[in-house]
Amino acid sequence: MDKKIVFSGIQPTGNIHLGNYLGAIKNWVDMQDKYKNIFCIVNSHAITIKQDPNILKEQTINLACMLLACGISPKKSSLFIQSNIDEHPALAWILDCNIQMGDMSRMTQFKDKSSKNPRNINVGLFNYPALMAADILLYQVDLVPTGSDQKQHIELARNVAIKFNKDYGKCFKVPEPLILQEGARVMGLDNPKVKMSKSIKSPNHAIFLLDSNDEIKRKIKKATTDSNSNIVFDESRVGLYNLLGIYETLSAKSRIQIESEFEGKGYGEFKNTLIDVLIEVLSPFREEYKRLQDNKDYVLNILNDGVESVRPLAKSTYDKAKELVGLL
Ligand code: TRP
Repeated sequence: MDKKIVFSGIQPTGNIHLGNYLGAIKNWVDMQDKYKNIFCIVNSHAITIKQDPNILKEQTINLACMLLACGISPKKSSLFIQSNIDEHPALAWILDCNIQMGDMSRMTQFKDKSSKNPRNINVGLFNYPALMAADILLYQVDLVPTGSDQKQHIELARNVAIKFNKDYGKCFKVPEPLILQEGARVMGLDNPKVKMSKSIKSPNHAIFLLDSNDEIKRKIKKATTDSNSNIVFDESRVGLYNLLGIYETLSAKSRIQIESEFEGKGYGEFKNTLIDVLIEVLSPFREEYKRLQDNKDYVLNILNDGVESVRPLAKSTYDKAKELVGLL
């Protein structure tokens, strides 16, 4: 049986942190044998927020380096840059003409982002979900891995695919969301009540994949816990629960194993063990990232192979949609 096609998108903005890695990238790496994966660096989505052009270019390539360093394998998967395929915005236009203002206006992420950027509420930001639908529908995708914040956008992509197929004739596969594993939600180290985020600038909030071993050590040592001392999974002890969740995912041990490992031990020992595991997992990524940074041509070649591997499908889907709506 053919493997299912999975499409994942990630924006090239800012440094990748542990929340991005455990919440998305690690899952992507792990599913490379099970599915046929298409990984897309969605730089066209990134310009819905004002970007410095040179920094955007740099971050796009840096993200490719980081994804490869984390284990995305060009032998198994396609990795490409969204803006290298013109059919993305072209299909988004056709979809635009088949999405009602009322449906688009319900998107909560637009409301959220526009209230955070009141001086740049551009049409692209409003239209973001149509471009995202085009990303997915161009590749006749079966599954789209998603966190809860993107569910509404995937629902919109499904609805426009269903309506288009009904109105004009079969053109798109209707994708299903693939809900990512629990335990993948990493909270801020200094404030475990909020999701780890690159836009929170306090120095001990997030661990970035490029942090040095000393930075990792400092941030874990400073991480908020509570005045209890036993090491157990208790959701009400948010700080410890977050750290244990990170340890659980990285060590692949069960909760029972972890609780017995730290029975009779305190925060100090637990934190030291967590620091060791973090360094063991993250430092090879950092080294491989540096190696790739010094071999940009190799990375550009991979991106080029990636785009050529997906282009025929993008073109055939787009040509069909164009034909069906009557564009010459
Ligand atoms: N909107 C997604 C995010 O911010 C990124 C994205 C763009 C995406 N196009 C996509 C994700 C297509 C999945 C499929 O996380």
